[in-house]
Amino acid sequence: MSKAPERVAELRQLIDHHNRKYYVDAQPEISDREFDKLLDELKDLEAKHPELITPDSPSQRVGGAPIEGFVTVRHRQSMLSIDNTYKPEELREFDRRIKKLLSGEPVTYVVELKIDGVAISLSYEGGFFTVGATRGDGEQGDDVTHNLKTIRELPLKLPEKPKLLEARGEVYMKREDLAKTNRERIAKGLEPLINPRNSTAGSLKLLDPRECAKRRLRLFTYALGALEGIDVKTHLDGLALLKNFGFPVNPHIEPFDTIEGVIAYCDSWATKRNDLPYDTDGMVVKVNDFEQRRRLGTTAKSPRWVVAYKFAAEQGLTKLESIEVQVGKLGTLTPVANLTPVKLAGTTVSRASLHNAEFISSKDIRVGDMVVVEKAGEIIPYVVRAEHGARTGAEKKFEFPKTCPHCGSPVELDKNGTFYRCTGGRNCTAQVKEILRAFARRSAMDIEGLGVKIIDQLVDTGLVNSIPDVYRLTLEKLLELERMGEKSAQNLLEGIQATKERGLARLLAGMAIQHVGDSVADLLAKEFGSMEELMNAKAERLSQINGVGPVLAQSIHAYFQNSASRKAIEELRELGVKMTEEKPAKPKGGADLTGKTVVVTGSLKKYEREEIEALIRQLGGKAAGSVSKNTAFVVAGEKAGSKRDKAKELGVQVMTEEEFDQFIGKK
Ligand code: IVH
Repeated sequence: MSKAPERVAELRQLIDHHNRKYYVDAQPEISDREFDKLLDELKDLEAKHPELITPDSPSQRVGGAPIEGFVTVRHRQSMLSIDNTYKPEELREFDRRIKKLLSGEPVTYVVELKIDGVAISLSYEGGFFTVGATRGDGEQGDDVTHNLKTIRELPLKLPEKPKLLEARGEVYMKREDLAKTNRERIAKGLEPLINPRNSTAGSLKLLDPRECAKRRLRLFTYALGALEGIDVKTHLDGLALLKNFGFPVNPHIEPFDTIEGVIAYCDSWATKRNDLPYDTDGMVVKVNDFEQRRRLGTTAKSPRWVVAYKFAAEQGLTKLESIEVQVGKLGTLTPVANLTPVKLAGTTVSRASLHNAEFISSKDIRVGDMVVVEKAGEIIPYVVRAEHGARTGAEKKFEFPKTCPHCGSPVELDKNGTFYRCTGGRNCTAQVKEILRAFARRSAMDIEGLGVKIIDQLVDTGLVNSIPDVYRLTLEKLLELERMGEKSAQNLLEGIQATKERGLARLLAGMAIQHVGDSVADLLAKEFGSMEELMNAKAERLSQINGVGPVLAQSIHAYFQNSASRKAIEELRELGVKMTEEKPAKPKGGADLTGKTVVVTGSLKKYEREEIEALIRQLGGKAAGSVSKNTAFVVAGEKAGSKRDKAKELGVQVMTEEEFDQFIGKK
């Protein structure tokens, strides 16, 4: 037994070493299975000896419980944006400006890839990873520490212990990892994620780190932020330090003494970048010397010592073979081009949206045309133009169908003359399917087991023709479906049953109200609290809400005036679907902690950690993990260490458990 502490220490060292070999050096020394065995052994030992668990243990990367919401953190130094350039001449102009400001001194530039991900700040206090935050508005961002810990190449502790080290970098996702995630999502009937950057941003905003771990996020660091206890004089030294401290630093970094060298290197990446396993959207050119940087200073928006050189979106020429029309959940018809597959920015493009009738006619795009298609790493393919000069005469003008290609109902042009709509409503199975998909999706009612395939079957067999029908499904009905076993039918029914309690916000998000997405749904639920109140609200009342403009107010009002929507809502109510949103009840007589961030540290006598944190949230406050000057107060129990010290240093009030009880009026 007494061996446990030694073995735990040894395992941690081994795991850190192999993590680094795998993720930072890309030279694994052991198989994934052997690695998992080490991790399992560590987890076992820690389960038997919980007193040995430390926050920097590799076992803690994914173990955390979901967080309740995001805490805002103020950056120690603003995270500024950078100016963009697109042409070599603009880089020469950048060079001339710098030389002028530095009175002609020689300058060394460091050129790096511009990784297309999400900027992040990572704080290490006393050598330990304490807080990681998104850029946000540049001054303050969201604390996403729980998710960042799931990135295996992110060091949880450093080999040295400077008082403060802030590393800055980019969290990204490899293209192949996005494809993997998307295959899994599609199999589960979830929408695929659009591109690596959006997916990265979305993943960092997940509340549950176990979900985030599945997204396989990656990291490159490319700069130092605030430092205390270390001194660095140049960017290259900073990068070397980051590397020595175990941070992943991109290997494609080159210094140049002339701008022509910079330009040649940038251009050399214009096509080579497609061979990288991750997306880049340009190069970044930085002055190496920190003293020169200081003299160059910053403009209101961005530092003068750095510039981005963006790659032009890659274009390709291909044939538009046919145009098909898709029907959306509100009946909108969208023309989509089927293209002869063409390789662009590392992916094969074979379809592109043509948006609407106006898009097609203004560009005079015809079936059979050769078209120029564009795709910047991060963007959905876009048809730039048709090559009218390459026409053979065989091209055919596209006519919007007069009737819906799915249900045959008449098609009509909307008020603005841009969009054609199918008038079939719930008689159009394509529309019904889209409505159900939107209803069942994760951020709406999140119906486990109700994926695309099942929805198609349910609608095609006529078992489901509207949202309320979903709640009328029975075991017998489900068993009529092909390849539906009793077990999965049972599971699906339970999945459906469970969603009755989701509450008003999620219900509204799922109801296909034009312009009402997840956040507006949330807003409405908070404002009105019940469907009843919302349904009877006048358009003027709706547009008084902060965040609801006149168009949105009109669309919400129109939806609730529609007799079909009112009927569906009535049916859902009768079927037992919850139509209210409860504001979390505050304990009686409790103090109001609204907007206040509280940190609990050390071991408490009366409360479990989760218990006191839940109490703080019930009182309207946020429970945070680290102390900053935005912390309202710290509740410190026994063995409270660095957090209490930090609070004292920042002049943040520290309370004992008893004082906290008194403060919240609970004694
Ligand atoms: S340096 C003040 N280096 O590009 C300079 N940024 O539009 C700090 N980015 O928000 C940024 N790769 O998210 C730097 N090698 C790199 C980068 C990089 C990607 C991103 C970063 C920043 C954005 C600037």
